[in-house]
Amino acid sequence: MKNSKEILLKAQKEGYAVPAFNCHNLETIQVIAETASELKSPVIIAGTPGTFDYAGRDYIQSIIEIAAKKYNVPIIIHLDHHTDINSIKESLELGTKSVMIDASHYSYEENIKIVSDVVKLAHSYGATVEAELGMLGGQEDDLIVDEKDSKYTNPSQAADFVKRTGIDSLAVAIGTAHGLYKEEPKLDFERLKEIREVVDIPLVLHGASGVPEESVRKAISLGITKVNIATELKIPFSNELRKYLIEHPEANDPRKYMADAKKAMADVVREKILMCMSENRY
Ligand code: 13P
Repeated sequence: MKNSKEILLKAQKEGYAVPAFNCHNLETIQVIAETASELKSPVIIAGTPGTFDYAGRDYIQSIIEIAAKKYNVPIIIHLDHHTDINSIKESLELGTKSVMIDASHYSYEENIKIVSDVVKLAHSYGATVEAELGMLGGQEDDLIVDEKDSKYTNPSQAADFVKRTGIDSLAVAIGTAHGLYKEEPKLDFERLKEIREVVDIPLVLHGASGVPEESVRKAISLGITKVNIATELKIPFSNELRKYLIEHPEANDPRKYMADAKKAMADVVREKILMCMSENRY
């Protein structure tokens, strides 16, 4: 497997973003990979610790490796919001080359220390590292951050953080949150601009579900090169599955009853690839 350096630097240079979609099982990986290939878009398939606990690191790694071999576009497996260096090491041993260490809930100095240790380890495997400065509110998997505890990224700290940790990409907190929004999020574009002026590595926007396309596009124009989407894919999949099973109470074949759910998820993957302007890049 490859790391995410090349695809993110190409996106940064050409002014689009690579979408990072969270997967949960074979079906969601198939939908993401097939749709990205159809649109000739690079794609990052991300797994949280919860996904790996559910499906197994080896299973998920192998399925994504097969997808990457099967299609003619870059398909990268990425560890999302990992907090434990031992789990990261387990995936590095299996061949994962793109990881996120999330120590954003610790103090600034502790965050630097934890991230630096992961950077040393991951770089020795040829893997790239994303870390978060500031802290997003909302829920991603088992990670829950109350809105009142969320913190925006401080631009002057960002430059120091990147320099001292040696990370390859930086996740910024500029007003997005994980999960669904109660009202339309207002992104702090001024802050993003200030961060971009002092940090030259790719910047990552988490919590993109429910963020209007024009805001995401503006964020991309100001330096975002990876856009993370999870919740907005889970909802159509679950809704269609529920609908199908209610309408077909006799259904008992997983190969059939998930077909509509996969189609509904593919529509959103397609829409988000177009939003990121990553189509026809390979
Ligand atoms: P959403 O679930 O809000 O799309 O957030 C996804 C994310 O940031 C994964 O890291």
